[in-house]
Amino acid sequence: MSITKPKSQEYVLDLVVGARPNLVKVAPLIRELQHEARLKFRLIHTGQHYDTRMSQEFFDVLEIPYEHVNLGVGSSSHAKQTARIMERFEDCVLSKRPSMVVVFGDVNSTMACALVSAKLGIPIAHVEAGLRSFDRTMPEEINRMVTDCLSDVLLASEPAGVMNLKDEGRAGIRLVGNIMIDSLFRNLPASLERKTYTHYGLMPHKYALLTLHRPSNVDVPEILRSLWTCFKDLSRTIPIIFPAHPRTVQKLKELDLLSDLTPHLHVTDPVDYIDGICLQKHALFVMTDSGGIQEETSVLGVPCLTLRENTERPITVSQGTSTLVGASTELITKTAQSILDGKYKKGQPIGLWDGKTAPRVVSAIKEYLELGAHVVRNEKESI
Ligand code: UD1
Repeated sequence: MSITKPKSQEYVLDLVVGARPNLVKVAPLIRELQHEARLKFRLIHTGQHYDTRMSQEFFDVLEIPYEHVNLGVGSSSHAKQTARIMERFEDCVLSKRPSMVVVFGDVNSTMACALVSAKLGIPIAHVEAGLRSFDRTMPEEINRMVTDCLSDVLLASEPAGVMNLKDEGRAGIRLVGNIMIDSLFRNLPASLERKTYTHYGLMPHKYALLTLHRPSNVDVPEILRSLWTCFKDLSRTIPIIFPAHPRTVQKLKELDLLSDLTPHLHVTDPVDYIDGICLQKHALFVMTDSGGIQEETSVLGVPCLTLRENTERPITVSQGTSTLVGASTELITKTAQSILDGKYKKGQPIGLWDGKTAPRVVSAIKEYLELGAHVVRNEKESI
């Protein structure tokens, strides 16, 4: 009689992406999962971002295999977009139930899919858990809180995230580092070769880079007008490259500000990931309200004026190169001047932002799936 060894179990992960920054986070994880014989995955794109420049180009450049499912939800109000994602994602997981759903960051797609999974009893891993701005006027803060509340495996990118989750009494916390930085390190050599700034007739370290899309900066006409005047003035001292998010272009058009440009304020379409990193690396400084760019500039050692009153990523201020300037034109001008004068702070390396986060994410997921929920739940004090 021959004894057959029991077949080791296979698991299926549903990886959920919806918006541009999710793609930068999923790419290293997919690469890592491709070495795991027993961890299969399906890539689910909610379609929250749908413009070629916001989505398709990121797949190509980051070498992400095409999604298995696209829910095609598009843009709408927060409630409608969230509801649409939930309805379509529920059908998707009911037709093929995964062993776990993995969500990233803090966008509407993250929260919507976490809600669906939790109600169906499907375990959830949240990559970039625990970040808190403590500012509930930000839609992303609501998304973070709800997602963490429902997730079983909470994968934090920085110590503040761990502290916040502990304060909220969560279990299943792991400090794994920043998965975006895995993408950054992998693509840095290609980015350095691009020389994207030459398209604008500019030289390295002789321009500033601007990105702007958060509701707090672009939805209030007085704030957007005052920021616009500040950037125009600043561009007379140092040229500015501004790859504009579609929502910002829409707002600028509504206020008729795009017809009012100065020759050194270069407004362009969104750029692809490699061009984006190239433009950051060679900028004298960056002005942004993006979470990811605060992190990337810290690792690249490029000064970052964060156009926010607060940040859920405090390590970028305490150890990195970021300074919170809000929408204060006075602070923006003053901080920019200190950089031009060579008096700005230098950042330090940040622990676990080392390009090796994806393997740590996979280990935590495997441990949960193989050892069971009770093990993770009982290790509350292990961090
Ligand atoms: C979303 C995330 C934000 C993230 C950002 C990155 C939420 C709540 N916000 O913001 O955390 O930093 O993505 O880009 O999930 N639009 C297009 N084409 C697109 C996508 C959007 O034209 O491909 C326009 C539409 O006019 C839409 C607006 O942008 O109404 C807002 O899009 P939405 O996906 O709701 O949020 P973002 O502002 O992109």
